[in-house]
Amino acid sequence: MPFQGKRILLGVGGGIAVYRAVELMRLLMKQGAEVQVVMTKSATEFVTPLTFEALSGNKVHMDLFDLTEQHGMGHIQLVRWADAVVLAPATSNLLAKMTHGIADDLLTTLILANEKPVLIAPAMNVSMWLEDATQRNISDLRERGYTVIEPVAGELACGEQGAGRLAKPESIVQALLPLLTEQTLAGQYWVINAGPTVEAWDAVRTMSNRASGSLGALLADAAAVQGAKVCLIAGKGAPRTRQGVQRVEVESAAQMLDACLLAAQGADVFVGTAAVSDFRFANPLQKKLKRQGSGRIQVELIENPDIIQAVANMDKRPHQVIAFAAESENHIQFAKDKLSRKGVDAIVANDISNMGANHASGHYITAKHVTKLETQDKANFVVGLIQHITNSYSES
Ligand SMILES: Cc1cc2nc3c(=O)[nH]c(=O)nc-3n(C[C@H](O)[C@H](O)[C@H](O)COP(=O)(O)O)c2cc1C
Repeated sequence: MPFQGKRILLGVGGGIAVYRAVELMRLLMKQGAEVQVVMTKSATEFVTPLTFEALSGNKVHMDLFDLTEQHGMGHIQLVRWADAVVLAPATSNLLAKMTHGIADDLLTTLILANEKPVLIAPAMNVSMWLEDATQRNISDLRERGYTVIEPVAGELACGEQGAGRLAKPESIVQALLPLLTEQTLAGQYWVINAGPTVEAWDAVRTMSNRASGSLGALLADAAAVQGAKVCLIAGKGAPRTRQGVQRVEVESAAQMLDACLLAAQGADVFVGTAAVSDFRFANPLQKKLKRQGSGRIQVELIENPDIIQAVANMDKRPHQVIAFAAESENHIQFAKDKLSRKGVDAIVANDISNMGANHASGHYITAKHVTKLETQDKANFVVGLIQHITNSYSES
């Protein structure tokens, strides 16, 4: 659970989207966060504090002067308690007050006393959002280090169309995670390939494999959360990744090779997690092949180029090239052979039984070390893997 043990202060302003802050709170809690809610007086006109209290199990904080004794947590303690603050929905009024350092209620006083990362999720009518005053306030707040997740376009509660809807709770949660994570990969550019390749046989038939692409997609997400700029070269069906991860969709091994060579130029790290077909059809047909009636058919396959080797030997090669090797036996020995043959910096040798599973395990093998990677769910596995990659990066 990405928010396990994290303490989030959710500030709720008085806009029509307050009900979505309830969803947001539940989502954060589901992902392991502990949430304390502060509502403005206007917010309580839209949804009663009881809704937040019943669902969070915590008293909602509203009154600056009521706080200190009654709930044992004054406004200063509340901000010291939190790991991060989320303002959702942030009203135009709240933005204006924050810009000018006004502290005339509990929420604005908290914000002024706060030193933790703040994510602002504004929501309002499109004209209010586009109004110069609001836009100036937003850029001022950004300059002062606040993170803003912009409202999205669509039909607004007032019936008008345009930008102003609160970003989806899932997007807000995604945007919050980097604020709680050390930005160890800031300034780095990572390229990752993931998923299966698909080789055309005829107009309708293909040859592919069982790779889901989940590990590569999780790795892309985890690297992005730690601050890297990430490009994912995605084979067919590779899962969606978080906003901000660049995605290049490919099918065949040849397309994947081209995309990788293009994206990987000058990258800091390239990780090849994709299950690239070693072979393709020598003569793919444009039409659908009909039954021949002979009971048997022969098909000629030819070898595909080796993508990881090509990346490891390209001009402006990435600083670190890491290959995945799925083997059924003698993993370490095969991986060591590959390391020198392909010119890569490290190999993640994993058992083919991990393919399609929710967990992963294996060995991280460099010229100097063989390190066992314990069985873990893939989300945790990729975080450990990033640590190994950055260690060998700093050693090199
Ligand atoms: C029905 C209704 C809906 C409103 N919706 C919004 C909104 O979505 N966004 C916004 O910035 N203000 C909205 N307002 C205006 C705010 O409630 C008003 O500016 C208030 O002073 C905000 O107080 P607060 O920032 O302390 O929560 C709405 C007002 C009403 C009556």
